[in-house]
Amino acid sequence: MLGRVNHIAIAVPDIDKATASYRDVLGASVSDKQPLLEHGVTVVFVNLPNTKVELLEPLGADSPIGAFLTRNPDGGIHHICYEVDDILAARDKLTADGARVLGKGDPKIGAHGKPVLFLHPKDFYGTLIELEQV
Ligand code: CO
Repeated sequence: MLGRVNHIAIAVPDIDKATASYRDVLGASVSDKQPLLEHGVTVVFVNLPNTKVELLEPLGADSPIGAFLTRNPDGGIHHICYEVDDILAARDKLTADGARVLGKGDPKIGAHGKPVLFLHPKDFYGTLIELEQV
């Protein structure tokens, strides 16, 4: 079911500082900063040869990463996104196997304009998993 790692998302308290670290200290290629109001985050893409890292800073009052940063004020890995060919088939198999899909279980359009779902971190060893249909 799982394909490539599409991205690893890291929540950060200060995206300018985090971007400078990745660009200047780690020597990575980074995108411009993109505010995604409907997703409640500002994002910078760190483009790597085999995948991307997304640096996420909260945007607006009810950001989905706000509570995470309250618990992890220095930042931390927020989720891993794996690619799937068929997100509805993946959801149906996962729920039949007892895994919990967050929200109502219907895919939403994610930050890349593709359908995504999130799986409960307690079902997957403390890691929030995003599935993205590619
Ligand atoms: Co993501």
